[in-house]
Amino acid sequence: MRVDKDKWEILAENIPIGVILLDSEEKLEYINNSAEVILGLKDVEIGKKLFEIVPDYEIDELVKKTLKSKENNSISIYYWSNEKKLLEIRSIYLEDGKVFLIIEDKSIYEKLEENYRDFIANASHELRTPLTSIQILLDLFSEKKITLEEIQNEFFPYLKKEIMRMTKLVTNLLNLSRLESGVVQINPQKIFLIDIIDKVLESLYPLIKKKGLKLHLDVPSSLEIYADPQHLETILFNLLENAVKYTPENKQIFIYSNFDDNNIVLVIKDTGVGIPEKDLPYIFDRFYRVERSRTSEDGFSSGLGLAIVKKLVEKHNWKIEVESELNLGTTFKILIPKGKEG
Ligand SMILES: Nc1ncnc2c1ncn2[C@@H]1O[C@H](COP(=O)(O)OP(=O)(O)OP(=O)(O)O)[C@@H](O)[C@H]1O
Ligand SMILES: [Mg+2]
Repeated sequence: MRVDKDKWEILAENIPIGVILLDSEEKLEYINNSAEVILGLKDVEIGKKLFEIVPDYEIDELVKKTLKSKENNSISIYYWSNEKKLLEIRSIYLEDGKVFLIIEDKSIYEKLEENYRDFIANASHELRTPLTSIQILLDLFSEKKITLEEIQNEFFPYLKKEIMRMTKLVTNLLNLSRLESGVVQINPQKIFLIDIIDKVLESLYPLIKKKGLKLHLDVPSSLEIYADPQHLETILFNLLENAVKYTPENKQIFIYSNFDDNNIVLVIKDTGVGIPEKDLPYIFDRFYRVERSRTSEDGFSSGLGLAIVKKLVEKHNWKIEVESELNLGTTFKILIPKGKEG
């Protein structure tokens, strides 16, 4: 940093807001780093007219308006540099006839809002599907097209399934939204990893047995880690439930631990349907499912399991990795830093 820069210039160089100073002829007198980054500029020549450097007519109009009216103005515009950005630009008229442009990149807020809108749309869609089925049944009954007996004999299992589906969906939705809002606390304790694995396997045992899956478990019973037991249970339940759900009958599932230089590595490997390469980057996104049809038999799919897993893994400061090959199987690895596992 040059020593002759005054404090204001040092400040301007270091704030994440773009700052440009133009003279009364719209020529560039000063531009800070952030303005160059936001506007996608390189090696900008001082003394040139702004429009020659940034050929955007809305910005040009803003400057002209400010110079003419001698008043401050502001605009929000979409601007393209590598990607589409939402910029908020304020122009400030200075006593000596010069103009300051203050430029803020608001794209992140727009993305967040879009994300939120998607979330609501997806959640309502998922909830409406089972509700509509139940509604149709009730309509048929009230129109006397089916009898109470028929409902009891034929539709009860179906109704029960739909209600379980909704319960799972609502529970997962609540859990995820609590995780995303940051109200969930992690209380790490020293625990034996195997205890949690055993607990999860116990709850999945009926399904494992029904599918005739062969389970290979190789985790030392002495292996201790720092983890929140309840949250670790959720992580392992979701990963193992997936392994069971997406592995065809009589195939194998492996759970084992090993070490790399820095981590204890817990591996959950199945020999199931696998995940296509193009889908892999998205499987931790909420509501993302590779193919709905794959899950129809063995349980209900909210598409939220891995989103919850990822959040909980991050909260522990662990990492999760996935590898998969179509029709051969999927491997999830949880990396738990040695020594500072919590
Ligand atoms: N072990 C796996 N083998 C193959 N595909 C998997 C595996 N784990 C996840 N997937 C794919 O990733 C998608 C997202 O998984 P996720 O656990 O988030 O949702 P889900 O299992 O569909 O529903 P939920 O877990 O909420 O009931 C799944 O729909 C499935 O397509
Ligand atoms: Mg799942």
